[in-house]
Amino acid sequence: MSRVEDDNQVATPISEENWTGRSGVRLTLRAARGADQAGLRMFVDSLSRESRYFRFLTGGRVTDEIVQGFVSHRKARDVALVVTYREADGAETIVANAEYVVNEEDVAELAVVVADAWQGQGLGRRLIQRLQQLAGSGQLRGMRGDVLSENRRMLAIMRDCGFSARRNPEDSFLHEVSLTLAEARASAREHRMPRDWFAAH
Ligand SMILES: CC(C)(COP(=O)(O)OP(=O)(O)OC[C@H]1O[C@@H](n2cnc3c(N)ncnc32)[C@H](O)[C@@H]1OP(=O)(O)O)[C@@H](O)C(=O)NCCC(=O)NCCS
Repeated sequence: MSRVEDDNQVATPISEENWTGRSGVRLTLRAARGADQAGLRMFVDSLSRESRYFRFLTGGRVTDEIVQGFVSHRKARDVALVVTYREADGAETIVANAEYVVNEEDVAELAVVVADAWQGQGLGRRLIQRLQQLAGSGQLRGMRGDVLSENRRMLAIMRDCGFSARRNPEDSFLHEVSLTLAEARASAREHRMPRDWFAAH
């Protein structure tokens, strides 16, 4: 279990979870930690140009500062998660990363990225739902994110997870997705269980 605290804020504890995929592949969801920096660098460098562009708005190399930011200089209520896969030789490979940073209005600004070879299997949706749960239990007011307007998959998932999406009036290339957590808590009670095939156990 990971727990970070600072003077005024207490972090939401994040327990490690085992996820099992459709083909029986075993994955781990856990908080990102300092020792993940090299793994995160490899993960980011292995992304396709399109995935890198969708997540980091650059087709070029993602800076070391951004990669370091996943695991350091984070406030207590910020969350950074990784999904890892254990290779046959025992090495752990990061296959997805999801995070939010809590802004001054107590709103969690989220972003998610899944390795290309692992996309379309339910991981992204499940990560977003996990972030929603964490933000809800962290008593945050809401969640928001900026999504490129051409990123139809991400927009579809966000809408399906209860977010509203609107074109940024100042930048037509971007959509703003947002969710009020009080509403989310109410709708979560009525909502069906996720229909993806990943199961936490
Ligand atoms: C966006 C992203 C995080 C989604 O994760 P994922 O694991 O690939 O997505 P999932 O498998 O959970 O969900 C895919 C869903 O999107 C839907 N989808 C796929 N392509 C789509 C498209 N072109 N238009 C609309 N919906 C689409 C699928 O139907 C599926 O829904 P279903 O589960 O109801 O069948 C992942 O594709 C990714 O990392 N992309 C690159 C980085 C990125 O865009 N990050 C978001 C930046 S804000």
